[in-house]
Amino acid sequence: MNRQIIVITGASSGIGKALALTYAGKNTELILGALNKDELNNTARECEQKGSTTRTIEFDLCDADSTQAFTDTIMNNYTTVDRLVHVSGISQRALAEDTSLEVDRRIMEINYFGAITLTKALLPLLKVGNGGKIGVTSSISGKFGFPLRSAYAASKFALVGFFESLRLEHFRDNITVTLLFPGRINTPISLSALNGQGKSQGLMDPGQATGMPVKTCAAKMKKAIEKNKKDAYIGGKEILMVYFKKYLPALFYRIAKKTNPR
Ligand SMILES: NC(=O)c1ccc[n+]([C@@H]2O[C@H](COP(=O)([O-])OP(=O)(O)OC[C@H]3O[C@@H](n4cnc5c(N)ncnc54)[C@H](OP(=O)(O)O)[C@@H]3O)[C@@H](O)[C@H]2O)c1
Repeated sequence: MNRQIIVITGASSGIGKALALTYAGKNTELILGALNKDELNNTARECEQKGSTTRTIEFDLCDADSTQAFTDTIMNNYTTVDRLVHVSGISQRALAEDTSLEVDRRIMEINYFGAITLTKALLPLLKVGNGGKIGVTSSISGKFGFPLRSAYAASKFALVGFFESLRLEHFRDNITVTLLFPGRINTPISLSALNGQGKSQGLMDPGQATGMPVKTCAAKMKKAIEKNKKDAYIGGKEILMVYFKKYLPALFYRIAKKTNPR
């Protein structure tokens, strides 16, 4: 069997790390990207123990040169990419009126422009062979706005618009796009969530701590991508809010207004 070349961003922590381990096996070569080199190397070591070949590339989605170096390394060393899964992301915990425009832009840069920059650069390799699969980690905040997450929700909505369009532009190339909408998953994401001045809030949200286990989330993400699902909602009862917003908006707003945002 040919080795599959799988690119995963955000592989140093949380969902990205769990997804790398879910894909790991002797027929996979994993190209893992994120900021934290030591944690990336830890993920790579665990994936190698499951039989994968790995390559780690430290990069910062806020830095155009480093993002370019990430895609150049892939373009120069591989002739195909079978899977590109965008997981890197950062959250927010601040009212819109307290969030500086600099922070709004930083969140868009990491969550939205980062993913589209990598995708545009790697499209030629995704077209090779039978066509590659792209997984995009949006959020249920990509389906409805929520207090303290104005820029975060905006970035996650933006991903949906871009990748739904890309899916229709490239179906003849056999490229599939799976939009992933996690709810609350038990990861450290709330620790690094930015306040209005761009500092990490450093707090673990109770909702996060009691969320779906990250391994379960990663298994569901992989299944959705491999089955060419267009959309996948992954989480607990919070997913109901997506359906309430669409079909029972009055109920959605009643619940959302009563929720103590964190
Ligand atoms: N956890 C949830 O409940 C939840 C719900 C919905 C959607 N999501 C989405 O799932 C994705 C993964 O989140 P997670 O929960 O696994 O959080 P996490 O554990 O904090 O992981 C975030 C990942 O993004 C990477 N990252 C952050 N800033 C980056 C930058 N400037 N350049 C490159 N990589 C960067 C981090 O790298 P370093 O650690 O190396 O900095 C880390 O690998 C995010 O897109 C998030 O929005 C999560």
